[in-house]
Amino acid sequence: MKKNDNNKTGNNKAGKGVTKLPSMAVNVAGLKLSNPVMTASGTFGYGLEFAPYLDLSRLGGVVVKGLSPKPRPGNPGPRIVETPCGMLNAIGLQNVGVDAFIEEKLPKLRKVKTRVIANIFGESVADYVLVAKKLDGARGVHAVEINISCPNVKKGGMSFGVNPKEAARVVRAVRKATALPVITKLSPNVSDIAEMARAVEEAGSDVISLINTIPGMVIDIEKRMPVIARGIGGLSGPAIRPIAVRMVNEVYNAVSLPVIGIGGIMNASDAIEFMIAGASAVQVGTASFVDPQAAEKVVDGIADYLVRHKMSAKKLTGSLQK
Ligand SMILES: Cc1cc2nc3c(=O)[nH]c(=O)nc-3n(C[C@H](O)[C@H](O)[C@H](O)COP(=O)(O)O)c2cc1C
Repeated sequence: MKKNDNNKTGNNKAGKGVTKLPSMAVNVAGLKLSNPVMTASGTFGYGLEFAPYLDLSRLGGVVVKGLSPKPRPGNPGPRIVETPCGMLNAIGLQNVGVDAFIEEKLPKLRKVKTRVIANIFGESVADYVLVAKKLDGARGVHAVEINISCPNVKKGGMSFGVNPKEAARVVRAVRKATALPVITKLSPNVSDIAEMARAVEEAGSDVISLINTIPGMVIDIEKRMPVIARGIGGLSGPAIRPIAVRMVNEVYNAVSLPVIGIGGIMNASDAIEFMIAGASAVQVGTASFVDPQAAEKVVDGIADYLVRHKMSAKKLTGSLQK
């Protein structure tokens, strides 16, 4: 049987000998994915770096490293440390800048048959708008994902993502700047995630993704110094998964927008958990550091599950029994 037989997605290795495979395709507010599995921003470079290790065209989408108006060198090292069931990072949003992304990375990336989602960030609303406008006309970009976990320099460095009014301001401005589907990526560092979700829905976001990392610290007790040069880093990996699943479920119940689940997805079971909680699609992050083929394995595992349960990916979303 060919990979594409009886399966709109073409991404299903499961069910050899089975004539009809459940559909893996999902339409996330106009962003049509062949299956619900994407890679998370900052953990998969610009996608192309992973081409030697897995078939990028088998992924629903690739979310590229966060893009800013100008290139950024990032923070000095050490900027990554392993933690129990996860890792801490303080990369400092290192990236090539939106222009170099469009000129150098995108021409190669658009040859790959997958969806490309550009993650964007800035230190002011004007930064976000500038990057969004440049990407709007760029062939091969299928959606933008707004990272609002960034310091707003005009507001004394407070993150856009912790204040519903500031978050809404960014989303409203980006919404006007692009015709592409707008995904807003929420920060978990708030006491009421549903309030943030409602604020960005009201401001015109098409989709909500969550969660970004949770601030943490690791100390070298011999040096009595933080291991990460910046002191604090963002915690990711399986350690944060139950928090992320809870937040996805709260957001799913609070808004009518589609939700993308992120946080500690290491395998298909983890991804399925997010979908049952309400996610229409998922992103695989830290797992790609452990196994560069992790995202592709998640696609296969979801396919197996859907065959076993005789249901489509779409039906899985929000199927949590009370
Ligand atoms: C090294 C590293 C870099 C990251 N860079 C970004 C980024 O540029 N933009 C963004 O929105 N999220 C970034 N993230 C957050 C991830 O996309 C994801 O939301 C988070 O790591 C939780 O998922 P995970 O536990 O599967 O890794 C980064 C995470 C890591 C580990």
